Amino acid sequence: MSQHNRSNFGSKLGVILATAGSAVGLGNVWRFPYLAGENGGAAFILLYILCVLLLGIPCMICEFAVGRHSHTNAARAFQKMSNGTPWGLIGYVGVLTGVLITGYYAVVAGWCGHYVFASAIGHLDGNPEYFKQYFNDISGDAVIPVFWAILMIVITHFVVVRGVQSGIEKASKMMMPMLFVLLLVVVVCSCMLPGASKGIEYVFNPDFSKISADSIIDALGQTFFSMSIGMGCLCTYASYFKEDTNLTSAAVQISGISILVAVLAALMIFPAAFAVGIEPDAGPSLIFITLPNVFEQAFGGIPFLAEIVSIAFYLMLVLAALTSLISLHEVGTAYLHEEKNISRRKAAWIVTGVCSLICIFCSLSFGDREWLHFFGGTLFSWFDFVTGQLMLPIGGLFTTLFVCWYVDKKIIYDQYTNRGHLSSGTFPLFFFCAKFFCPVCIILIFLNGLGLL
Ligand code: TRP
Repeated sequence: MSQHNRSNFGSKLGVILATAGSAVGLGNVWRFPYLAGENGGAAFILLYILCVLLLGIPCMICEFAVGRHSHTNAARAFQKMSNGTPWGLIGYVGVLTGVLITGYYAVVAGWCGHYVFASAIGHLDGNPEYFKQYFNDISGDAVIPVFWAILMIVITHFVVVRGVQSGIEKASKMMMPMLFVLLLVVVVCSCMLPGASKGIEYVFNPDFSKISADSIIDALGQTFFSMSIGMGCLCTYASYFKEDTNLTSAAVQISGISILVAVLAALMIFPAAFAVGIEPDAGPSLIFITLPNVFEQAFGGIPFLAEIVSIAFYLMLVLAALTSLISLHEVGTAYLHEEKNISRRKAAWIVTGVCSLICIFCSLSFGDREWLHFFGGTLFSWFDFVTGQLMLPIGGLFTTLFVCWYVDKKIIYDQYTNRGHLSSGTFPLFFFCAKFFCPVCIILIFLNGLGLL
């Protein structure tokens, strides 16, 4: 497909909302609060912000530069710029990673969808033991979570087939503002509870004694996942940016939104949890087991308030997950459509089919199905580990190495400054971070992922 009939994002707002939609997802609202809870609250939040500024933004700009320079899907972009050297493999690995992440990410998105429904029909009502049992029953069921996960992929599908402007951009412009409104509703409800001040203090008053080497590594890993770095997602979106998009300011704005949502997510959860005296260090089950109980205890006194807060919360998670799923789906769809010369519709159906298949097995691996457990972990946890801890860091590492050590510096400089139209004052700082600091940090995350650190 020639570069001329490729579509672009229509407006600057579209660029920011679509890319922020990719970045803001379950990573910010599900993963971040429990990591912050486990690592001492405010101190971890500061650490995360530091990682985003020093590591996330340079990596993001590197991926943007590759995408916008090449104006093509992730696989061809790296292929084109690597002149037939093995560096070209980065893009292909990215496409594969995208499909694998979609498969298990949709499972969690599906749980959120089910929890919206369950809140609405009054199922989220009971004691702490009940919530635990409820989550275990639902996640282990053979039909319900599979249905919801596939529904999420199918909704994603119908956005992606409509193309860049009338699909992805339009959906982001609708979903992102809704997400913010819901987020603010829950934050206000949570912070107004009597006794919420202890939770607010927990979010803003750092206790550095809680920071360990593990917290730093967690913050690094979280930076990657929450900014969608390392698999060609940002590269694919950047291929739809216009020539006058300022890559640095886009990266700064998107990171700002991502940080803001993460902090607001913490402000949703901790004040409510402290108000009812529940410790928020529950790990991954925080939002599905601990939180329904928190909502019920905190808001149960006023008729329907617990249901309304709970619906707002899980609906917000669904929206956050959908905009991220859209970006993941698009990586595979753009690749098949452009490289295999098939229509966008057909390409999207193939991606939807493969992702649905993966998500069926990932979902079924909960519950007691031994045939989907390997070496002590569920299939789901293996997908999470292999993509999150191995493939993303490797993808991110090779992307920055490729951009800063292999590609002609002039190309990156041109992308950074829009061919000299923008000021280049911060270019040396960016380049230094991307060339030396980022690779070292990524190697640290990677060794941690392998359990070697
Ligand atoms: N960033 C999203 C989140 O925070 C998830 C996501 C979307 C992602 N696209 C990605 C993660 C690409 C890694 C790579 O939930």
